[in-house]
Amino acid sequence: MRNLIPSWIRVPVAFFIIFGAVEFFIDSGEKPAFIEYPAVLLFLLLVLLILIAIEAIVGALENVMLHKLDEEAKARFLAEKEKSFKFTWLKETYQKLLGQKPIEEEGEIILDHNYDGIKELDNNLPPWWLYGFYASIIFAAVYLVKYHVFDGDNQIDELETELAEARIAIEAYKKTAKNLVDINTVTQLTDAADLSAGKTIFQTNCVACHMADGGGGIGPNLTDDHWILGGGIKNVFRTVSEGGRSGKGMIAWKAQLKPLEMAQVASYVLTFQGTTPANPKVAEGDIWVDESTETPTETD
Ligand code: HEC
Repeated sequence: MRNLIPSWIRVPVAFFIIFGAVEFFIDSGEKPAFIEYPAVLLFLLLVLLILIAIEAIVGALENVMLHKLDEEAKARFLAEKEKSFKFTWLKETYQKLLGQKPIEEEGEIILDHNYDGIKELDNNLPPWWLYGFYASIIFAAVYLVKYHVFDGDNQIDELETELAEARIAIEAYKKTAKNLVDINTVTQLTDAADLSAGKTIFQTNCVACHMADGGGGIGPNLTDDHWILGGGIKNVFRTVSEGGRSGKGMIAWKAQLKPLEMAQVASYVLTFQGTTPANPKVAEGDIWVDESTETPTETD
């Protein structure tokens, strides 16, 4: 066993096992233990030193023993060592892949011309090269048939399919990720489910000041087209999220409501537009015109 694995593998492997164990057992948070605690580094260096020392001592002992043996036993020992060590399989494969004749047999493949002492060997093509060449021929044939005979997708087609897939994925993501809405992406929701969710939120949180029908009380009337802080889904969303002017009583709801919930309740608030509440509060603020949909007119 000892002879199977050479020392230049044995030492690092043993070292990394110990290193791994140290990292595993010492809880050092984010950083590796040997950086967090310099003492660990010292310990690891010591371990490395000891491992190398052990190798050196064992090697030296072996040498001393070897010198004590008689010739025959020495030869037997060395032959044994030679046989068990070495990655014979690896070495043989490597040799085979090169396809070279051993130097002793070169006489068999020497060509019979001779230019001023320069001779030529008729070596086989190296198998690694030859098989690579065959593989490229097969690849070329498959490629030709797929792309030039059966008109396979070229890069542009592939790009387009992938873009289309990505667009579908984005749409699907947007549907499941409604909670990502913010002031820039919010749109007025019209789904009955969203509006009834908005109604529930309004009834739990907002009626105390705005009345169930939006007619107003402590808070302003939400049914008219006058707005203190601006109408339209973006402004209403912002008012709900960030609150009104300080000291007026309209708090920032973003601490209590999720983005989607704010979008729902804001959309619900906008459904009050044009309805007639039981006790309407007098209009406050300015008439709000949505500039994004208004057609520009030539006035001075
Ligand atoms: C404590 C009372 C109170 C509660 C509860 C309250 N509001 Fe208000 N709300 C106000 C006041 C007061 C204002 C006016 C703020 C200002 O003048 O800056 C206001 C303003 C608003 C406005 C802007 C109106 C405008 O004319 O620009 C909207 C929209 C609104 N609230 C929606 C809501 C929603 C939705 C809820 C529930 C999530 C809610 N409010 C809960 C008191 C309240």
